[in-house]
Amino acid sequence: MATKKVVRKAATKSVGLKKSVKSVSKKKVATKGYDHTFRAIYDRDIPWESDDVRGILTLPKGVKVKVLNYDPVMNRIDMKQRFPAGYVEPKHTHKSWHSILVTKGRMCVAGKDLRPGDYVFGWDIPHGPYEYPDGCEVFIVYMGDAKHVWEKEDLLKHSNIWKPKTAVGKKGVKKHIQSRKAGLT
Ligand SMILES: [Fe+2]
Repeated sequence: MATKKVVRKAATKSVGLKKSVKSVSKKKVATKGYDHTFRAIYDRDIPWESDDVRGILTLPKGVKVKVLNYDPVMNRIDMKQRFPAGYVEPKHTHKSWHSILVTKGRMCVAGKDLRPGDYVFGWDIPHGPYEYPDGCEVFIVYMGDAKHVWEKEDLLKHSNIWKPKTAVGKKGVKKHIQSRKAGLT
């Protein structure tokens, strides 16, 4: 009896292995067309661009982007984003998910004053607003359409919560509040 059990187990293992081999070969087909290129990139070799011109994010004016990698088949963008001091990003959704790592400055969202090394994930559930009282840089990966959907009214009625800690921040927050009072986004 004990021998039969061992044989049965071995057979099951073999079938399981075949299944896993099949799923690997299916994966190979599914990833056909994806960009598998290995990359090592100096930060200095990629320029910052205004997203007001580039139009990847469709956020309120003032965000800069540095696109490091883009796979049109996977619809994945790896990039940096830079928010000026005082910038407010309204509550929004997007059809892509994003993983964010703060690399410089402060990102204030969901009651947290996030600093370099801290992390954010967002998808199609409304999230934000975000305040960047002293400016911020992040590394971000989007998978899907990175266009942000937000309401102008939400931004204009926003009341700042987080205080700037730097001179640049104080100036930036004041400027952004004035700009919103003037109805500008
Ligand atoms: Fe988001």
